[in-house]
Amino acid sequence: MPAIVVIGAQWGDEGKGKATDQLGESVDYVVKFNGGNNAGHTIVVGEEKFALHLIPAGALTATCTPVIGPGVVVDLDVLCAEMDELAERGIDTSRMKISANAHLIPSYNRTLDKVTERFLGKRKIGTTGRGIGPTYADKMNRIGIRVQDLFDPSILEQKVRAALDQKNNMFVKVFNTRAASAEEVTGQLLQYAERIRPMVANTTVLLNDALDEGKTVVFEGGQATMLDVDHGTYPFVTSSSATAGGACTGSGVGPKRIDRVVGVAKAYITRVGEGPFPTELDGEQGDWLREQGGEYGTTTGRPRRCGWYDAVVARYATQVNSLTDLVLTKLDVLTGLDEIPVCVAYEVDGKRYDDMPADQTSFHHATPVYENFPGWNEDISHVRSFEELPQAAQDYVLTLEKLSGVQISAIGVGPGRDQTIIRHPLT
Ligand code: GDP
Ligand code: IMO
Ligand code: MG
Repeated sequence: MPAIVVIGAQWGDEGKGKATDQLGESVDYVVKFNGGNNAGHTIVVGEEKFALHLIPAGALTATCTPVIGPGVVVDLDVLCAEMDELAERGIDTSRMKISANAHLIPSYNRTLDKVTERFLGKRKIGTTGRGIGPTYADKMNRIGIRVQDLFDPSILEQKVRAALDQKNNMFVKVFNTRAASAEEVTGQLLQYAERIRPMVANTTVLLNDALDEGKTVVFEGGQATMLDVDHGTYPFVTSSSATAGGACTGSGVGPKRIDRVVGVAKAYITRVGEGPFPTELDGEQGDWLREQGGEYGTTTGRPRRCGWYDAVVARYATQVNSLTDLVLTKLDVLTGLDEIPVCVAYEVDGKRYDDMPADQTSFHHATPVYENFPGWNEDISHVRSFEELPQAAQDYVLTLEKLSGVQISAIGVGPGRDQTIIRHPLT
C-alpha cells in the first residue's frame, strides 16, 4: 500500500495543501516532516476556505490522522491557536499525533529571526519571521528544545538557560536588544504541556507500523525544492530539507518504503522573499499573473513575485526528488493569453544551459531562453477531463510534461476540492 510524498517542485505555494487534501478519504495518515508555520497551505472546501500553517492538511478529513513528524519545528502558540480556530469551525484535531523529537520554536528565536533580517539590511533573506532559521540552527548546534522536554520542567529550564547563555550575549552585544529571561521562556512553553501531552507519541514507530498494516501515508512537504537548504538557491532558502529525501529524515520512514513522489508545480511560477528568479516578470505581465492567480502569501500576505514556467527548474526538481508524478496547478490562471512563453533553457554569458548551472553566480546571471506556445480563451474551470480542455491547453500540458521529464498526473483548474482533472490516479 502506498507511501506517497508530496513535494513543492518550485519555490513554494504550488498548491501542495490542496493536492494533499484532495487525496481525501483514501489516506489514513498525513505527515508533515519539515518546516513549521512558515508554511501556508490554503484549502477550499465548498464555500469554506482554510489556511493551515502547522497542522497537516489531513486534519480536514475526519478519517485521517494528522502527524507532526520529528523534522518539524513547532511554535506552540501557533499550534494551539490553529487547533482552537479549527475547533470553532467544527473540526476536531485532538486525534493529531506529535513527535516527541520535534523541536520547539521558543519566543527568543522569533525575535532572533527578525533582528537578524534587520541586521542584514539589503542582504536579507526575506524570511517569514517565524523563527524557523534560528530554531533549525539550534537543533544542529545541539542547543535546541524538543517537545519531550516539556514533560521534565527542570530539564526544560536547564536547556533554555544553556541556550540563552549563548544567545543573550548576541542579543545584547551584537543586536543591541533586550536579553530574554530563562524563567519567562520556560513558563511560556510549559503552559501548553498538559494540552499537548495526549498527542505526543513515537510517531516513527506509529508510521512504520501503519505501513506494515497496509495503511496509506502521505508525506506533505512544506516549502519546496528551490527553497531546500541543500538543493535550493542558497542562501535564499529555508532552513530545512524540503525535498523528497527530507520526507525520510523528517519522519523516520526509510526510502525503500516510499512508493510515489508527487511534485506539485504551477503552470507558471512564483517566489516570495529575496533571491534569484530567472523567469521573473517585473512589469505588466507579472502584475497580470499576480492578480489573475491571487498571488499574495498565505502566511505573510506579501505579494508573490511571478514569472513564466521554468522547465530547467522542473527538470531539476524531477531529478532531485525522483518524481514519479507531477500535479500541475492553476492552469485556469493562464486563460486569456494569446501566447504563453516557457523557459526551456538558460543563457549565462553567451553559453546555453539545459540543466541547472553548478554554481549560484551563474544562476544569478541566467537569462531565460523562451519558446512560445499558443494560449486559449475558453473558461476551463468547469472542465473535469483532459479531452474536454481546449486543444491549446492540452498541448501546453503535454509540452510541459515533455520538458519536465515526468508524467503530469493531475491538473488544477481552480482552488476547489473538485476542480481537478485526474489523468493518472495517485492512490
Ligand atoms: P501551498 O503552500 O503549496 O499549499 O500553496 P498555497 O496554498 O500557499 O497557494 C496556492 C494557492 O492557489 C491557494 O490559494 C489555493 O487555493 C490556490 N489553488 C490551488 N490549486 C489551484 C488551481 O488549480 N487553480 C486556482 N485558480 N487556484 C488554485
Ligand atoms: P509553503 O509550504 C513560499 C520562503 C520565505 C523566504 C525563505 C526563508 O506555503 O509553500 P523562512 O521563514 O523559512 O526562514 O524563510 O523561504 N518561504 C516560503 N515561500 N512558500 C512557503 O511555504 C515558504 N516558506 C518559506 O519567503 O524567502
Ligand atoms: Mg503556501
